[in-house]
Amino acid sequence: MPHGEAALRADDHAVVVGDGVFETTKVIDGVPFALSRHLRRLRQSALGLRLKEPSEDLIRSAIDAVVKANPDAGLLRITWSSGSGPLGSGRGEGPGTLVVSTSGSNSWPTAERAHLVPWARNEHGALTGLKTTSYAENVLALATAREAECSEALFLNTAGLLCEGTGTNVFLVIGGSLVTPPLSSGCLAGITRELILEITRQEMHGKPPEDVEVRNVDPHELLTAEEAFLTSATRNVSAISEITGKLQMTFNSAPGPVTTRVAAAFSELESHTVDP
Ligand SMILES: Cc1ncc(COP(=O)(O)O)c(C=O)c1O
Repeated sequence: MPHGEAALRADDHAVVVGDGVFETTKVIDGVPFALSRHLRRLRQSALGLRLKEPSEDLIRSAIDAVVKANPDAGLLRITWSSGSGPLGSGRGEGPGTLVVSTSGSNSWPTAERAHLVPWARNEHGALTGLKTTSYAENVLALATAREAECSEALFLNTAGLLCEGTGTNVFLVIGGSLVTPPLSSGCLAGITRELILEITRQEMHGKPPEDVEVRNVDPHELLTAEEAFLTSATRNVSAISEITGKLQMTFNSAPGPVTTRVAAAFSELESHTVDP
């Protein structure tokens, strides 16, 4: 259905209280990238939120229909909610609601300014690690970043350690090694992060693997890092040129050599397989 004609019930619990889960991925020539991994994470988020499990067959056939009807789609979003329910936090009994929608692709600056916001990501929260439609915290952080002329906001967690962005994972290059916070920091298990950890840890076309460390990152390490980049399904690998906010740092080269190498390896993966 065209945007604006599709109807969602006013008592859908995703509308009422954000009681739903979602996935976003890019569509390349009519094919959603890494769909199997995204559907796996959607299922894990649904189980984590104790929603009914969405039918993978139903989702896949809805995606096929929507993508076919939108041949120029650059972005695909799948949302699964608990469906119609009371106008409060109590959940209804109804079947879930599935929404599949597309849009044009996002475009990002070649190097991004990221704003370290004053609010903490709660690495111990009930929703930690789940990709739920309760994203207003991200909306507020991103609006704050945009006021500071940045295209992404970065969060520390309650322990004061580096966590993630509103829709991105973060990597640093320290002493030549790639460093990214662990899932215990409270960040989402990003599909792009996961793929980058897989491809950079193996030898590719005779090129040696990168040194990769998944470990807690003190935010002050941002001040001595050689490079930093963001990863997400719509950005792939996106260099950070500057950090503003709670800490300030300018990177001399963005993208630097390691970021460029990782971005090239990711593009190569993407050109060879649509569902890695
Ligand atoms: C909070 C958060 N962190 C990280 C990511 C990056 O994950 P992915 O690489 O799967 O897009 C996202 C994706 O939107 C996100 O919402």
